[in-house]
Amino acid sequence: MSLATIILAAGQGKRMQSDLPKVLHEVGNASMLAHVMATSRQLDAERCVVVVGHGAEAVTAAVHDIDPDVEIAMQTNQNGTGHAVAQAMPALAGFSGDVLVLYGDTPLITPEAITQMQAARESGAAVVVLGFQNPPGGYGRLVCDVLGALEAIVEAKDADPGTYALTLCNSGVMLAAGDLMAELVAGLAPSATTDELYLTDIVAAARTLNLPCAVVECDAAETEGVNSRADLARVEAAFQARARARALADGVTMQAPETVLFSQDTALGRDVVVEPNVIFAAGVSVESGARIRAFSHLEGCHVAADAIVGPFARLRPGAEIGVGAKIGNFVEIKEAIIEDGAKVNHLSYVGDAIIGARSNIGAGTIFCNYDGVFKHQAVLGEDVFIGSNSSLVSPVTIGNGAMVGSGSVITSNVAAGDLAISRGRQVNKPGLGAKFMARLRAMKTAGKRP
Ligand code: UD1
Ligand code: CA
Repeated sequence: MSLATIILAAGQGKRMQSDLPKVLHEVGNASMLAHVMATSRQLDAERCVVVVGHGAEAVTAAVHDIDPDVEIAMQTNQNGTGHAVAQAMPALAGFSGDVLVLYGDTPLITPEAITQMQAARESGAAVVVLGFQNPPGGYGRLVCDVLGALEAIVEAKDADPGTYALTLCNSGVMLAAGDLMAELVAGLAPSATTDELYLTDIVAAARTLNLPCAVVECDAAETEGVNSRADLARVEAAFQARARARALADGVTMQAPETVLFSQDTALGRDVVVEPNVIFAAGVSVESGARIRAFSHLEGCHVAADAIVGPFARLRPGAEIGVGAKIGNFVEIKEAIIEDGAKVNHLSYVGDAIIGARSNIGAGTIFCNYDGVFKHQAVLGEDVFIGSNSSLVSPVTIGNGAMVGSGSVITSNVAAGDLAISRGRQVNKPGLGAKFMARLRAMKTAGKRP
């Protein structure tokens, strides 16, 4: 059965107290909407329609930034989830498969849960709802008959005490044939309490037509919806727990996984070791056997096999760390390629540079890449040695096997094999140190100052 998805993302999310539309708030450094769109992609949905309304311009831009093929449906007034789905149906006219409704504010649903819903459809249910167990609270309640077949969904605010006490809740995710979904949402009547069209009412409507409805239950960690910042923090925690469990299952060693933060797109290879208190911001991949030592922060970078990064290293976007390379403590790397086996071990800034294989960058070396207006690049060959506390003023090129004496400020190119030194020449005055010190001590004894 072919599949189309409708992602509801028009709501304002008043309780977020935010200028940003709710679905653009991030979990694991990706918008909640990006998570839901990823689920749709993983399900191989043929079509995907996102319903936008509040903050439509920003939400549409975010959608097309991720996938220009996703369609947009406009819901000018947010008249409820049923009304939102109705706005998406015209975009799917002529589509003959099943339609899955996902919520932009419920980002942790797994494709596995949806696969179970598809199985329930195959066993004859006309409408399948994804449910979960939750202590009585704000979610809609799933009312079932004695055999467990779904009869209706009742919103918490409309529930009588008996229904309110039910613990089987509505995640919002629903699956039905596209033509049935279109027919049912077209027939919705406004809620007596809020005047909105509730998508949840399609279950009772299907039952009046004698169509069987079913619930597929999944873990509550998947279905948590975000209405407030507190919910967002809870969902972030659930996301992190899942990302850590996946990394461990995939062969990553972590001594204190609870202190490591992941992003939606973090990719770690087998036998990567991640020490405590490491943060993977967006866009990081680390290959097999690399070690990310404690308190490092990585973003938009790639670490090749067997490299060692940290402790206390910062890899910024565009950092490309080669096989077996070493990036040590208090080193910041931005937009730079550190080729295989090169070392930047202590207290350095490397920005806009290429460092050739096996080169060694001494402690405290600074790549001066910015002149106040433009950024410039430094290109270092293989087996280069830069003495400690040097400044390389870009643009500058240093050839293979060249050396730079420590404390140098390098402003012109250094040819392969050359030694460059640029600093004041050292002068030694015999005996003067001891003489000078004796004079200072005598002054102090006499209660004087120099
Ligand atoms: C909804 C369900 C509730 C379920 C809960 C799960 C209804 C009536 N209620 O309640 O049973 O337990 O989700 O999280 O469906 N949206 C639109 N247009 C609208 C209204 C909402 O696009 O006019 C979008 C929102 O952006 C959001 C999603 O639909 O992504 C859910 O809307 P929300 O108002 O949060 O629904 P709940 O009250 O949480
Ligand atoms: Ca909600």
